[in-house]
Amino acid sequence: MAPTELKQYSIADVASHNKPNDVWMIIHDKVYDVTKFLQEHPGGEEVLIEVAGKEASSEFDDVGHSTDAKESMKQFLVGEIIEAERKAKKSSKTMSASARTALVAGSALAIGAGLAMIFKASGSRK
Ligand code: HEM
Repeated sequence: MAPTELKQYSIADVASHNKPNDVWMIIHDKVYDVTKFLQEHPGGEEVLIEVAGKEASSEFDDVGHSTDAKESMKQFLVGEIIEAERKAKKSSKTMSASARTALVAGSALAIGAGLAMIFKASGSRK
């Protein structure tokens, strides 16, 4: 399935799957249903139940999960967080555009300040 076809969930949707027999979690804006994986998780079911219904990106990253783990989590992927609630905004175009605007504005300001200083200096010389 192409990433664009992923089912869209809100953070609240995921939050309702927070029971030991119904464990969903959010890791890097993707939604995982690990209910069937609890028993198999090498790190134990307890840690997964603890973050049930929650955002667990930092917990997942902190463990330093292996490439194998990252590969195997794909089978539990059920969807992704709706764009408005994502942490990493997909619209990187908007990000870079605003970054560009900031850069241009910053540069203009710096040039302006530089010119002002030059003018001031040349003015005082007279
Ligand atoms: C879909 C989600 C997850 C998958 C597929 C997964 C898979 C695995 C795998 C395969 C391992 C064995 C070590 C490795 O290969 O890195 C592991 C270890 C572990 N995982 Fe997960 N994990 C998931 C989510 C989480 C989350 C959310 C937490 C914490 C809240 C967590 C905590 C741990 C811990 C503490 C270990 C043990 C590390 C150790 O003993 O060295 N895992 N996990």
